[in-house]
Amino acid sequence: MDITVVQGDITAQDVDAVVNAANRGMRGGGGVDGAIHRAGGPAVLADCVSRYPSGLATGDAGWTTAGDLAARWVIHVVGPNYRAGERDRALLLSCYSRALEVADSLGAATVAFPLVSAGIYGWPKQDAIAAPLEVFRSATTSVTEARLVAFDAATYEQIRAAL
Ligand code: AR6
Repeated sequence: MDITVVQGDITAQDVDAVVNAANRGMRGGGGVDGAIHRAGGPAVLADCVSRYPSGLATGDAGWTTAGDLAARWVIHVVGPNYRAGERDRALLLSCYSRALEVADSLGAATVAFPLVSAGIYGWPKQDAIAAPLEVFRSATTSVTEARLVAFDAATYEQIRAAL
């Protein structure tokens, strides 16, 4: 699997699936979640409601249509909320490994990931970068490209350095 990094907006990625940094309720929010629901349109929320009436547990992943996005699917993960005291790193690793499992089940070969938990949920940036790299490097998966999408130039450089 190729691990790549780009700077940009997760909603603009031309991949099979984009990963959403969702919350347990799966009914939208700010950050990546807000951007994906805005750009994907109401079909994304409608699918969340019908497929996940009780939402998702922290560390887990699920999927919906991507609506109007270029991608075919949105893979929703729920990162741990560091700011709220959820600091079990295994939960963050699980977001990435579960997302790859869901991608495999869908047949998604190219997947774009945000830095889960690194924004509103406050996970320390350096470790929010290290976690996906650890999972990607040891994963057994049919995904051919795991693309980390950095929102800003500083984060892009940090990811490049870590790679
Ligand atoms: N494209 C790429 N990266 C982005 C974008 C974007 N459009 N927007 C933000 N980032 P966050 P979390 C970066 O806050 O920390 C929501 O309300 C951002 O700079 O989206 O997991 C949910 O509903 C940061 O590096 O996700 C949850 O309640 C990273 O993406 C909660 O926020 C993740 O930031 C989840 O918080």
